[in-house]
Amino acid sequence: MVSHPQLPQTNDMNIGADEKKHIARYLKFLLCCEQMAQRCSARQAKLIDDKQMKRFLIRQSRQEKFHAMTFQSGILFLAPKGVNTPAKKHTELYGALLDEANTKHDLLSSVIGLQVVLEGMGEIALSRLEFGMKQREVGLQKLRRAILAQEDAHHEFGLDYLRQSRSSIISIQPETYLAVIDDMLISMQNLFEFFDEDCDQYIADFRNNLPDQIYSHALSHNTHAQ
Ligand SMILES: [Fe+2]
Ligand SMILES: [Fe+2]
Repeated sequence: MVSHPQLPQTNDMNIGADEKKHIARYLKFLLCCEQMAQRCSARQAKLIDDKQMKRFLIRQSRQEKFHAMTFQSGILFLAPKGVNTPAKKHTELYGALLDEANTKHDLLSSVIGLQVVLEGMGEIALSRLEFGMKQREVGLQKLRRAILAQEDAHHEFGLDYLRQSRSSIISIQPETYLAVIDDMLISMQNLFEFFDEDCDQYIADFRNNLPDQIYSHALSHNTHAQ
């Protein structure tokens, strides 16, 4: 059951107007990823025969909707006039890759793209956000922890699916997804700098969080992986 998210309890005294705008932009990026995840997991649920997995994916799609509503509330609170979307071109491209995999009924490729790679990145993005927010005494911790736990379950689902899969033919290769994520993060460098975050460290953490199977696949195809 999806309940309406609470508006974030922020301590206004600690955040300047500029900082509010930048946090709102970061939330807007996360919002786009959540919307992408909601759409993709709903499509995956239609492609899968296994009843238990189907139920998981339907539940995931509902949870992603709740995450999107939460971030939307945060954006409205911090920047009522709205903000532009960071890395818009890259998130749209990533969404198109997931759509392509689903249209081809290539569930393995779609799961690698969403639950393994994108949600692997989301885990890093959300945990770093927690770090950044704690520093700034923004009281969103409880909600973020709940979202992080759900994201963790989505990512685990992807890793399990990957372990169980016997298919070796996939339409969209992991390195294609990884290259778009790298470009996505690099295009947000200014935003990272504002929060004193190191974009390269972000990419390194994200790569280290990937399963060996994906990481070594990317390495063997000579991508940006180091
Ligand atoms: Fe989510
Ligand atoms: Fe998720």
